[in-house]
Amino acid sequence: MVKAKVWLLVRRPDGMPVPEDFKLVEEDLPPCEDGDIIVEAEFFSVDPYQRYKAREIPLNSPMYGSQVAKVIESKNPSWKVGSYMVCYPGWRSHTLITAKELKEGGIVGYTPLPEMAPLPRSVALGVLGMPGNTAYFGFLELCEPKPGDTVLVNAAAGAVGSAVVQIAKIKGCKVIAAAGTEEKCKWVKELGADYVFNYKTTKVGEEIKKAAPNGINCYFDNVGGDFTLQALPHMVTKGRISLCGSISSYHNDRSKLVANSPYDPAFIISKSLRLEGFMVPNWASRWMEGINQLQEWLVQGKLKYKETIEEGFQNIPKAFIGLFTGNNIGKAIVRA
Ligand SMILES: NC(=O)c1ccc[n+]([C@@H]2O[C@H](COP(=O)([O-])OP(=O)(O)OC[C@H]3O[C@@H](n4cnc5c(N)ncnc54)[C@H](OP(=O)(O)O)[C@@H]3O)[C@@H](O)[C@H]2O)c1
Repeated sequence: MVKAKVWLLVRRPDGMPVPEDFKLVEEDLPPCEDGDIIVEAEFFSVDPYQRYKAREIPLNSPMYGSQVAKVIESKNPSWKVGSYMVCYPGWRSHTLITAKELKEGGIVGYTPLPEMAPLPRSVALGVLGMPGNTAYFGFLELCEPKPGDTVLVNAAAGAVGSAVVQIAKIKGCKVIAAAGTEEKCKWVKELGADYVFNYKTTKVGEEIKKAAPNGINCYFDNVGGDFTLQALPHMVTKGRISLCGSISSYHNDRSKLVANSPYDPAFIISKSLRLEGFMVPNWASRWMEGINQLQEWLVQGKLKYKETIEEGFQNIPKAFIGLFTGNNIGKAIVRA
């Protein structure tokens, strides 16, 4: 009998999530029947979108999320013991995946992981996974950067932002980037950004004006809120904005939202700006195109990544909460 540790969501976070919103329990897995497999988590991804999931999933169910997992028991010839996959069973150490679940796949499915060496398997949750493709498609398809364009990126030391910075440089753009600590700013500069500022210790509008006196052509927005309010007037006419995330507002009570968007229609209309939001699964049919290109850039040394790894299953909530206090540089990962 395999015992699983599971983090349940037991309370809806009110504002910033706190450890008491989650509860660690143990459960016995059902036996592995014909066609089933049992997987053991190796790495967990903590991601800002999980804050939304905490509004949606039933209380007392496992917290939603992806992991790299190893097949430890198999009665399914397609999944050998010892093989790895990326899957979304949530914050669970061990999971029985039934033959039916494997067959149906669901939206996110069960993706076999090829041999990754010398890269760690955790990159499948970061630069060679969902965040990497968010940067790849969300930036290239929506911002349509051209050589010589000036690109603005916030949360630039994060999983998505750090990839956007580098993709923009690969495409011949000038990159202005913002992050929340000096250490993060230093790393983003090493990644090739032309001008980096700490948005917590400077005035965003003044920094952008100094760095881009002729304005911003492409804005990749991970943050929203006050940052965007200050950035928007610096967009050039016909500038393009990719609305990737708005992490500064994820704890807001959505039932009390008022008409206070940082996206002032006066600027958008008068400058003929193009704004487009997206969800990265929009490019599900082109998924491997993004991953293969990112991998090629990694091998060529044009794309670098960092991970902030929290050790231990018991620390998943801590790592998740840390996303909203800026604890991570690069991709936030938990090693089981
Ligand atoms: N649309 C999609 O399909 C999609 C897919 C993936 C991710 N996203 C979005 O992309 C953004 C980045 O995600 P990620 O996975 O790469 O996370 P991440 O950037 O690795 O981690 C979050 C970072 O956001 C910054 N942050 C946290 N609270 C903030 C606040 N109140 N104001 C300003 N910055 C804050 C912190 O960096 P600092 O120290 O620099 O503040 C923190 O380290 C998020 O908004 C996420 O929701 C969207």
